[in-house]
Amino acid sequence: MTLRARITGTGMLVPERVVTNDDLAELMDTSDEWIRQRSGIATRHYVADGQVPSELAVGATRNALDAAGLDPADLDCIILATLSAEADFPGTSFFLQQRLGVEGLPCFDLRAQCSGFVYALSVANAFVRSGVYRRILVAGCEVHSTGLDFSTEGRDVTVLFGDGSGAVVVEANDEPGDTSEILEVRLHAQGEYADKLWVEAPSSAIPRRITPELMAEKRHFPRMQGRFVFKHAVTRMPEVLLETLGAASVKLEDVDHFLFHQANLRINEYVAQQLEIPPEKCPNNIDRFGNCSAASIPMLLDENVRSGRIERGQLVAMTTFGSGFSWTSAILRW
Ligand code: COA
Repeated sequence: MTLRARITGTGMLVPERVVTNDDLAELMDTSDEWIRQRSGIATRHYVADGQVPSELAVGATRNALDAAGLDPADLDCIILATLSAEADFPGTSFFLQQRLGVEGLPCFDLRAQCSGFVYALSVANAFVRSGVYRRILVAGCEVHSTGLDFSTEGRDVTVLFGDGSGAVVVEANDEPGDTSEILEVRLHAQGEYADKLWVEAPSSAIPRRITPELMAEKRHFPRMQGRFVFKHAVTRMPEVLLETLGAASVKLEDVDHFLFHQANLRINEYVAQQLEIPPEKCPNNIDRFGNCSAASIPMLLDENVRSGRIERGQLVAMTTFGSGFSWTSAILRW
């Protein structure tokens, strides 16, 4: 019998500091009106000086473990998705493992940018289904704010991103009467467009990896071709969502909640419109948190599980698009 995998607990943590659009307008030529109108973002959270990614991740993890009724020692493995690692190496997951006090527990980072959480969820699902591990922590964690260009030159990217962390516990479900399950996951990538949204350095392709010249050229800050990204996102997201629903033999109209990656409210509205999905089935939190990349989906999931909006037995569809390019979808029976 193939084992099934289900999510048994969710958690999130964002740093306390709230940064408004007006706060950003004091640093660069932008406005609250421009940011709200183009992206739907009103505020985002930033870490305090010295607050590191694994600090956020451990908070989200403890909340997810509490919800699942587990201790860190009950876990078999940790997978952490991030594009803003605490160190060049080792991965942020190792700092998280140390904070959890679970010496010996395997852990690794997964790099698939804004699609990272669903990529990690698919790995956890495969581990459980194949009987390798029974209880896996899947976390998404980003500290963007320490790596953004706060001059007018960087405004197109900087206003969109925030810091935060989300986590879930994935467990084997071998109770015959329990329908809760990760039904299908589909992953895609197109490296051809890597430089349409990327941070080039520090880079092992560059002698000494980071130099004053490179920094003067601002090649250590994210660069994005916004319109190009937008165009691909609104094509790939419906495509992969329909592919995954088909694989799961689930009808679009039977899905109760569509959790879209929180990159831009306009992208999500456009996708929902194209597929004729009613807005009340598409919760968003980008207005408060901005784009938290790999943390966005688990944060949105946690909010909607804790508020009681997502109930056991319902169908949940997650869909992402991000740098790489990468795009994914996962269908779950909650
Ligand atoms: N504040 C004020 N003006 C800004 C600005 C900001 N933060 N950022 C860019 N602008 C200006 C541009 O310089 C440009 O000025 P110009 O017309 O004088 O040249 C103008 O606004 C329009 O820029 P454009 O890039 O064409 O705007 P847009 O309508 O495409 O919106 C994005 C920009 C970034 C909001 C949009 O392209 C987008 O959301 N793209 C997808 C981004 C994304 O999802 N990234 C993450 C994927 S995981």
